[in-house]
Amino acid sequence: MPALTGPLLLLALLAAPRPGLADGDASDSSFTRLPVREEMMAKYSNLSWETHNILLTEHSSEPVEKNITLERPSYVELTCLFTTSGDLNTVNVTWTKDGEPLENKHAINATGSTLHAQYTFAVITHMQMGSYSCFFDEEMQLRGTFHIKVPKVHGKNKPLITYVGDSTVLKCECHECAPVNWTWYASNGSMPVPIDAHVSDKYDVSGAYANETKLKIKNLLEEDGGSYWCQAVFQLGDSKEHIELVVLSFLVPLKPFLAIIAEVVLLVAIILLCEVYTQRSKKDPDDGKEFEQIEQLKSDDSNGIENNAPRLRKNESVEQ
Ligand SMILES: *[C@@H]1O[C@H](CO)[C@@H](O)[C@H](O)[C@H]1NC(C)=O
Ligand SMILES: *[C@@H]1O[C@H](CO)[C@@H](O)[C@H](O)[C@H]1NC(C)=O
Ligand SMILES: *[C@@H]1O[C@H](CO)[C@@H](O)[C@H](O)[C@H]1NC(C)=O
Ligand SMILES: *[C@@H]1O[C@H](CO)[C@@H](O)[C@H](O)[C@H]1NC(C)=O
Ligand SMILES: *[C@@H]1O[C@H](CO)[C@@H](O)[C@H](O)[C@H]1NC(C)=O
Ligand SMILES: *[C@@H]1O[C@H](CO)[C@@H](O)[C@H](O)[C@H]1NC(C)=O
Ligand SMILES: *[C@@H]1O[C@H](CO)[C@@H](O)[C@H](O)[C@H]1NC(C)=O
Repeated sequence: MPALTGPLLLLALLAAPRPGLADGDASDSSFTRLPVREEMMAKYSNLSWETHNILLTEHSSEPVEKNITLERPSYVELTCLFTTSGDLNTVNVTWTKDGEPLENKHAINATGSTLHAQYTFAVITHMQMGSYSCFFDEEMQLRGTFHIKVPKVHGKNKPLITYVGDSTVLKCECHECAPVNWTWYASNGSMPVPIDAHVSDKYDVSGAYANETKLKIKNLLEEDGGSYWCQAVFQLGDSKEHIELVVLSFLVPLKPFLAIIAEVVLLVAIILLCEVYTQRSKKDPDDGKEFEQIEQLKSDDSNGIENNAPRLRKNESVEQ
């Protein structure tokens, strides 16, 4: 963190976009703004510097973009280096923030065939976060854009599947960051509601490092399923990540097993029935013969030709 000399600091602050300077200061007169600047100089005398470059040529047909992550107030120095074979003096440089033109507080210098367009400002609140673009021609075709954002939070992006009665841990982290606060939110269809681990025994919030947070949910109920969010709060804004929790009742995972068990039981029952049946039919033939013989005798008595048909039918029905 380099200590800033007075003039340099003032220069940087002058370059700061108006919304930040005017924060909480409705009056637009420079009289009232001066003390605010001095106050800021004292308050932000040891901000760090962030310098970022984008290289553009006259052949850059696509906008060149760069992401800058910023979590605490800093001075930002953005430079677009534009190289052209044409006359640098005719090049028209403009800067915008989120599409709105910025005051011409930028610096330009040329070395050889390269133009350095520099925009320096202080990022103090989330108001100064956003997309800053440099343009190098009147059609605004040649452009470089710096997207200044707070660090992204990462969590599990697949739904977490758990069972009733278990406990589970949801986790979020961000790379090379130290949020001032982590907050967990829960919702099952309604608005996200902050989880206060101090109030409810159900939840435990922990994290070994500043860059991570863990939410433990104990004694899961089916209604604990739904959407959860972890939120990292930075001085310059916040970042959220969504985690989906699915809580299954024990019957759900058991269903396939129950189905298999039912099938097995059915199969065993069928096998047993067959067994009983075959054993009975082994015994049966004698009974059947006796019966048939009696019948045969009966039918023989009445009619000798017709007697074959009923007997065949009877055998068929036994086999079936
Ligand atoms: C300057 O930085 C130090 C350490 O980084 C910090 O403790 C201190 O509060 C800062 N001062 C101001 C005025 O922000
Ligand atoms: C910048 O961030 C956006 C959104 O997070 C992403 O889609 C894009 O690929 C990033 N660009 C670069 C150059 O990293
Ligand atoms: C032009 O700007 C670049 C980048 O800021 C710097 O390195 C260089 O010294 C400057 N040249 C002149 C002549 O000011
Ligand atoms: C730069 O562009 C603006 C608007 O496109 C125009 O008003 C201005 O005259 C141009 N300046 C030069 C030097 O071309
Ligand atoms: C979080 O911080 C710890 C300790 O500084 C580090 O070991 C770990 O790699 C960090 N994790 C991420 C995701 O940045
Ligand atoms: C962190 O967030 C919680 C919940 O919003 C809040 O109660 C707590 O005061 C915050 N802590 C800090 C240091 O901002
Ligand atoms: C979720 O929904 C159920 C009923 O639909 C309700 O009883 C419960 O309080 C809700 N939980 C939360 C965290 O909103």
